[in-house]
Amino acid sequence: MARVQRIGILTGGGDCPGLNAVIRAAVRTATRDHSLEVLGIQLGFEGLLMKSCMPLTNELIRGILPKGGTLLRTTNRGNPFEYPAGDHKEDRSELLLRNISELGIDGIIAIGGDGTLKIAQRLFEKGIPMIAVPKTIDNDLAATDFTFGFMTAVSVATDAVDRLHTTAESHNRVMILEVMGRHCGWIALYSGLAGGADIILIPEIPYRPDAIVESIRERQSEGTQFDIIVVAEGAKRTEGEERYIDRRAKRLGGIAYQVADEIARAIELEIRVTVLGHVQRGGSPIPFDRVLATRFGKAAADLIAKGDFGKMVALRGDEIVAVPIKDAVENPKYVDPSSELVATARSLGISFGDGR
Ligand code: F6P
Repeated sequence: MARVQRIGILTGGGDCPGLNAVIRAAVRTATRDHSLEVLGIQLGFEGLLMKSCMPLTNELIRGILPKGGTLLRTTNRGNPFEYPAGDHKEDRSELLLRNISELGIDGIIAIGGDGTLKIAQRLFEKGIPMIAVPKTIDNDLAATDFTFGFMTAVSVATDAVDRLHTTAESHNRVMILEVMGRHCGWIALYSGLAGGADIILIPEIPYRPDAIVESIRERQSEGTQFDIIVVAEGAKRTEGEERYIDRRAKRLGGIAYQVADEIARAIELEIRVTVLGHVQRGGSPIPFDRVLATRFGKAAADLIAKGDFGKMVALRGDEIVAVPIKDAVENPKYVDPSSELVATARSLGISFGDGR
């Protein structure tokens, strides 16, 4: 096998705090330890279709460690296997393969979530030397203990819970905070626990509106006239229920308003809703995410230099390991309703809206 000389780096899917820290670490390690040339591919796989690249030098990456977003920009569209072309989608992967060869790229580090990793695996199966780095604020990838960006999102959400606490208490109100996480309740569970929420609603534990009301009444009978409810955007009342605001695009959002409607008539307290949205994804990564992203970037550069392709870097315990990308995209990592984390919350009197 010929020695890897020129590599490409791209970021795909939604952005996430820590992407720039990965880019910086990968470029530094690739250039300093392995004498590789690095091309930054813009706008994810789209950049490979358009041949939109720039040399990533140590000059260019200076100062990006604490910055949110991604220097390389990103997009949720641009899947080369299902590329939008007018009213239909077409497979442009052959063009992408051609462009990779014309650009003289010997390997690609793709930093992304579920969607990007699936594309990376398909390209790897077509012979492209791929290395993947997992990112998502949702923390829903089974192959890694944590994804970078998650703790930053939790920190933003926890700050929101803290702020809602003081105003809820002053006004005797029920405050419902909606957080992201897609079909997993990690952000809701962690921020709810960290902020001392009274009720946490997650997709993994279907809720009943009457059980939420019961829990609010119980607190009232004990003399507390306010409640903080943290609801994950993917929360549901029954197993299998889908509550997209945009069914075609499978977009979630706005469940907090539905929960408010479902309980409003049964309680006397006023209800207010906060949908936290993309604030959770923007801004500077907290130190935990900067360190994790840096470790991932360094490990990805080492793997690509070694020619150990088709692998994704992952955190297992305190170690950074390499796992097949294929295994990483198989199943999402859901919150286990019988886990110690959920049990801890229940012991503290936090309700999951399921009447237990
Ligand atoms: O996967 C990250 C995430 O922020 C989810 O938590 C959320 O549902 C989704 O992306 C929002 O996507 P978009 O940026 O397309 O609105």
